[in-house]
Amino acid sequence: MNRLDIFSDKDTYELVLDVETNVVNDLLKDTKAIVIDKNVLELYKNQYCFEDEKLILIDALEWKKTPEEALRICEEIMLKGVKRKDKIVAIGGGITQDLVTFATSVLYRGIKWVWLPTTLLAQADSCIGGKSSLNYKSWKNIIGNFYPPEKIIVQSDFLNTLSDKDIRSGIGEILKVHLLSGVAATESIVEQLKTYKDDQSIMSEMILNSLKLKNKILEIDPLDQGLRLKMNYGHSFGHALEAATNFAIPHGIAVTIGLDIANYIAFKYNHLTEAEFLKLHSLISDNLEQDDFVVFEFKDFLEALQKDKKNDAQNYNLIIPVAYGEVALTPFKMDQNTESLFHEYFEHFYQ
Ligand SMILES: NC(=O)c1ccc[n+]([C@@H]2O[C@H](COP(=O)([O-])OP(=O)(O)OC[C@H]3O[C@@H](n4cnc5c(N)ncnc54)[C@H](O)[C@@H]3O)[C@@H](O)[C@H]2O)c1
Ligand SMILES: [Zn+2]
Repeated sequence: MNRLDIFSDKDTYELVLDVETNVVNDLLKDTKAIVIDKNVLELYKNQYCFEDEKLILIDALEWKKTPEEALRICEEIMLKGVKRKDKIVAIGGGITQDLVTFATSVLYRGIKWVWLPTTLLAQADSCIGGKSSLNYKSWKNIIGNFYPPEKIIVQSDFLNTLSDKDIRSGIGEILKVHLLSGVAATESIVEQLKTYKDDQSIMSEMILNSLKLKNKILEIDPLDQGLRLKMNYGHSFGHALEAATNFAIPHGIAVTIGLDIANYIAFKYNHLTEAEFLKLHSLISDNLEQDDFVVFEFKDFLEALQKDKKNDAQNYNLIIPVAYGEVALTPFKMDQNTESLFHEYFEHFYQ
């Protein structure tokens, strides 16, 4: 069994990978409330012992990832008789995580929770770091806080029922953390991605390596005030693509494309050689399918990019490679020159 101590601004907490089914069942027996993605419940109701009266169901829909929904979860947890000292269990993907992080942080000013992430994106990336991000009206991921679970259990078996698109979405975040963590991490992910589809053990290894790399960043910057900004590599462009396509592109796939755009700009500014850019481009392209390239209006993309939280009045502040395997926050003037570079990328590669 693999385990990690995850860093936060307070105590460390434990993550374990691939435990026996009865360990999970004991946990489910001991709790009064289980908040679970209803699709996951349907798929796994025969594999784990879920008692009906404990269940609080989540619709994993982006438009329902709201403070109102988090408050509904608080109410349901209270109605299950959960008190200040009790611990609840949550099971699902990133949407479930964002809702439960927020709900558990405010109910009784904080109750303990154990987290079983079920998507690759949540297992390899978002399950650690303790962040919640809820949508409010038309603002995306605007309400949130930090409130890590007491323990995380990553069961890689959950991935057997995940769609190919959701697997590729998770690979986007795995790519991100490896490509920003040095030459050795970059080279290792290049190799692992060649074989992960044929060998399940490679997937568990990629998940654990991604978590270790992110954990190193959390150790230095648990509250996202400096170094952790690097984890935003690919995200300014990714978020802008998500917005411009009305969220038709899943988060990690938009991030995959965002990484390629960031690398292209780095290549144009001589931070990457053409050979380095093309090597990464080929790796990134292997994680994309034809139907990922959803048509959008370039002006909508720019408009969304201009709203990025990292920008200042004159500059797009973007996380861009400054060398192969290394990224940094870099200002780019909000002018025609910069914007025509973005346009050039789409002309050449977005098809
Ligand atoms: N808080 C953070 O640190 C953080 C980081 C990244 C992303 N996010 C958020 O996470 C969300 C995306 O999360 P996601 O991609 O993990 O998934 P999700 O929660 O959106 O779920 C995606 C789909 O997969 C289904 N599903 C979940 N587990 C399954 C399984 N094992 N088998 C079959 N289907 C399963 C869900 O029901 C849903 O239909 C976004 O809202 C994003 O903003 C949060
Ligand atoms: Zn992300």
